[in-house]
Amino acid sequence: MEFEKRILCIGAGYVGGPTMAVIADKCPQYRVELVDINEERIRRWNSEDLPIYEPGLDEIVRRARGRNLFFTTEVATAIEHSDIIFVSVNTPTKAFGQGAGQAADLQYWEKTAYQILKHSHSDKIVVEKSTLPVRTAEAMQRILHSRGTSPRFDVLSNPEFLAEGTAVENLLQPDRVLVGCMNTESGHKACDQLEAIYANWVDRSRIIRTNIWSAELSKLVANAFLAQRISAINSISALCEKTEADVDEVAHSIGLDSRIGKKFLKAGIGFGGSCFKKDILNLVYICRQHGLDEVADFWERVVEINEYQQSRFVANMISEMFNTIAGKSILVLGFAFKADTGDTRESPAAQVCRRLLEEHAQLRLCDPKALENARKELIGVQGVSFHEDPYEAAENVHAVALLTDWQCYRELDYAKVFDRMEKPAFLFDGRNLLDHRRLFEIGFNVYPVGKSPLRQL
Ligand code: NAD
Ligand code: UGA
Repeated sequence: MEFEKRILCIGAGYVGGPTMAVIADKCPQYRVELVDINEERIRRWNSEDLPIYEPGLDEIVRRARGRNLFFTTEVATAIEHSDIIFVSVNTPTKAFGQGAGQAADLQYWEKTAYQILKHSHSDKIVVEKSTLPVRTAEAMQRILHSRGTSPRFDVLSNPEFLAEGTAVENLLQPDRVLVGCMNTESGHKACDQLEAIYANWVDRSRIIRTNIWSAELSKLVANAFLAQRISAINSISALCEKTEADVDEVAHSIGLDSRIGKKFLKAGIGFGGSCFKKDILNLVYICRQHGLDEVADFWERVVEINEYQQSRFVANMISEMFNTIAGKSILVLGFAFKADTGDTRESPAAQVCRRLLEEHAQLRLCDPKALENARKELIGVQGVSFHEDPYEAAENVHAVALLTDWQCYRELDYAKVFDRMEKPAFLFDGRNLLDHRRLFEIGFNVYPVGKSPLRQL
């Protein structure tokens, strides 16, 4: 079959994989290919055991794979045969040299720019899908045109706003699709082409076009604003604990104000995931580079409050358990950074676990989807065991720490868990997920976040 367009995505990760699967599923007239340097990842994309867990993704991949969706490690051929190239490689925080700990590490992104240049023999549209510092497209254009103006490359910014755990839903029904282009005739023509892809399933009113720098910056700002709301409510949770106010009631009351809105006001053990922290720190770094220290300080506090929230949670566990947890067993419910994903990158659960281990606690870890990543992350660490069955793991533990908001943990039989535990039994609900009054009636000492604890006499 002759395809209308040949789309390539470099980077088959949490963004590239689901995004391309949805494009392929919705647009059988296009050939969609994903390329990655990670051979194991590509092998798994081509197998029944996909490398990432996302609700609804398996069916979509199964429908499109081999028809118009392909996974490969052959970068050169893939680039040569494509018309539109999405770049969706990782852009982690730089761990070395200038800007270490804050700036984005652009080495993976830059390598792809040179690869595209090397293997292109026809004009291409290059789409920034990765989250990048504002004005990266300028550098991309310069690299791509460093050998002259033929072939021609048009660089667009099309940041991705999907959240893990709801990626498929977010891609099928996005709040908006943002496309930024250079203000030139060919820039706008390239934009038309990219918008035409999304228009196969997204209403045109939701596809918005901005200048390229606004698009790049909007992505960093969207994440910073979302994370800021979580830090804001978490800071209030600390005050609630001192005043007998209830943070969920406060969040509900303020969230009904349509100017505030109810989303992203759930207090807990802080935000995690591979992006919020790195994107805010990147924003902080960019502001400092531009001499905007006051602005940088403002955003940096969002990350500091997040860390404070985790320290507070652990300190509370220690003090409530008679100021020592050394040698005590703790059942940890959840290790993923949020529910409905197996992703453990920057998981607040992992941060809390590390601090508990520093106190020489013995951890029994459960998670319905993240045990494989947890094992990798905690390889060689003493004092941790991994369990499929939470009831079996509850045998003789002193405390339960609920760290990820999985629905399945709301549905556990906590009377059964309680019966197996040492007494007094402690339960720390780091996500305010559970029915605290009911747990107290079973016999637990219950410690939510931002609410009064329920202690047995
Ligand atoms: P990821 O680490 O899961 O995937 C990136 C992939 O790129 C990896 O598999 C890596 O092997 C591959 N790669 C790196 N260099 C390559 C090269 N030269 N050639 C081929 N493949 C290469 O990362 P991710 O979570 O998918 O994030 C990708 C980008 O999207 C980041 O900039 C991130 O900030 C942004 N983003 C992520 C999310 C999310 O929910 N994870 C959401 C929106 C935006
Ligand atoms: C986030 C954004 O929501 C996406 O729009 C963005 O595309 C993505 O980052 C990215 O750039 O990577 P994600 O990190 O996958 O998505 O998941 P979120 O639902 O935003 O949750 C992030 C963290 O905040 C999780 O640890 C979650 O448990 C926590 N959270 C979220 C709260 O503690 N309280 C809330 O009210 C909401």
